Amino acid sequence: MYRSHNCGELRTSHINTEVTLSGWVQKSRDKGFIVWVDLRDRYGITQLVFDEERTEKSLIAQAQKLGREFVIQVQGKVIERASKNSNIRTGDIEILVSKLEILNESILPPFTIEDETDGGEELRMKYRYLDIRRNPVKDNLIFRAKVTQEVRNYLSSDGFIEVETPYLIKSTPEGARDFVVPSRMNEGQFYALPQSPQTFKQLLMVGGMDKYFQIVKCFRDEDLRADRQPEFTQIDCEMAFVEQEDILNAFEGLTRHLLKEVNGVEIDEFPRISYDEAMQRYGNDKPDIRFGMEFGELNAVAQHKEFNVFNSAELVVGIAVPGGNNYTRKDIDKLINWVRRPQVGALGMVYSRCNEDGTYKSSVDKFYDQDDLAKWAEITGAKPGDLVCVLSGDANKVRAQLSALRMELAERLGLRDPKEFAPLWVLDFPLLELDEETNHYHAMHHPFTSPKPGQMELLDTNPGAVKANAYDLVLNGNEIGGGSIRIHDKETQAIMFKHLGFTPEDAKAQFGFLMDAFEYGAPPHGGLAFGLDRLVAILGGQETIRDFIAFPKNNSGRDVMIDAPAPIDDAQLTELSLKLNLKS
Ligand code: AMO
Repeated sequence: MYRSHNCGELRTSHINTEVTLSGWVQKSRDKGFIVWVDLRDRYGITQLVFDEERTEKSLIAQAQKLGREFVIQVQGKVIERASKNSNIRTGDIEILVSKLEILNESILPPFTIEDETDGGEELRMKYRYLDIRRNPVKDNLIFRAKVTQEVRNYLSSDGFIEVETPYLIKSTPEGARDFVVPSRMNEGQFYALPQSPQTFKQLLMVGGMDKYFQIVKCFRDEDLRADRQPEFTQIDCEMAFVEQEDILNAFEGLTRHLLKEVNGVEIDEFPRISYDEAMQRYGNDKPDIRFGMEFGELNAVAQHKEFNVFNSAELVVGIAVPGGNNYTRKDIDKLINWVRRPQVGALGMVYSRCNEDGTYKSSVDKFYDQDDLAKWAEITGAKPGDLVCVLSGDANKVRAQLSALRMELAERLGLRDPKEFAPLWVLDFPLLELDEETNHYHAMHHPFTSPKPGQMELLDTNPGAVKANAYDLVLNGNEIGGGSIRIHDKETQAIMFKHLGFTPEDAKAQFGFLMDAFEYGAPPHGGLAFGLDRLVAILGGQETIRDFIAFPKNNSGRDVMIDAPAPIDDAQLTELSLKLNLKS
């Protein structure tokens, strides 16, 4: 038997009990006549003691040789500690060791395995198995398991059936590039890894499964960011015989359940806003509504005053920064440089200080008098002591720029409290989005999303204006889920493909299986997928999903621990019929 108890378990009630523990040496302190060792496992840390008065000399000598991260087994008696440590749960006791066995030695780890480590990100990724021994990483993984368990419990008890769908499939368009897998048995042919199980879950609805879910890996070859990994996990769901309202209710229920069970937070109904309203009020389709700083459109009060920058702009829009009048001229210059960075892309920023005495002082006083500036303050909701920041230009671009500024300032002002949760639904997304590079429309959600009733006709005349039965669930400024009511008849689906630039032949080759299925009585259906990694990270009070994934990839899509991707040998390339193709 390796252990009678774990390292987080023993309390004063165990005093005088003979125990066996196994774990890793976190650290040891050697005073010559007395040696203390912190023994760690997943459950906690227990202090071991070896001292001259009570321990055999040879055992002390053995303890003195222990290095960091040695795996050991000890037997001994639980005794009360002379000086207690209230920071750890086992801090009232220690183990007077009578037997010590080294189960495995360890070379010196490349970073310290403690909550505050000296290891940099890349090093910790390379030795991820050591990083997982640290509480912050370990606790995140345990937290993820708890969320996942709650999801399974909730959906299963609500009648959802968990069904696995294949990973070796054909392209499922979700807006990213596919990862492809060559087929040895079908020369020159490739599987695509699923960007999502979208088509399969729709086929499960045709198959009559009625309520499906799956906690499933998805693969997308896209640029990586803090909230994106090339392989990530979805809680993928689909329901038959539903309207949008049914879906919103079902998954609001799940989210509410998680917030309550995992975070102890009770939230009533989630607010709902349309995509257009989200863009207008926050410049963003995933607004963080934990704080205000809503957009105020200033065209009516800022144009036609001889300030040409504003006069020539499609949109003049501002936000009020709470307490921003405290900023020095230097602070504001820094802010202007911040919005000018290529990542944000604004040409400049106009500001107006709202003084405590009710007067204003702007960077464009030459063009605007106190009455004008009072209107700016009124429209942006600025109070005395605030700063109004104004950007102008092309409407879409300027909204994105001001949204970036809003988020940055909120972060700096501490308004993005990770312990506060503000979910909302964003509804009525456009069906299509214009790709400015190619000048072609593509599906904003995916090609299986249905247009709003009565809007099909608009597809021919004004495709960009067509709204979809599509919705996103947003939590604290992050898109944690998205879905839609689907097209479930072949004709509508064919029209959609046509508008997305597919020839009937292409559509048949890529999605013939789905179109065929629609001919056999497809029920009305719809669904949604949560990004599990994002959901878990945000519930855990963070935004970097890597920290909640056991073995994540770095920003270049590499697993630096196993060193993947990697070349494969010539024989394998030949077997996969790839060699010739690569050389040609
Ligand atoms: P969508 O593409 O919106 O919808 O994806 C659903 C959710 O998955 C998460 N997500 C990601 N998380 C981490 N890394 C990524 N690279 C990544 N990409 C997406 C997001 C997102 O909201 N089949 C549809 C769903 C449906 O219509 O039912 C789909 O995949 O949180």
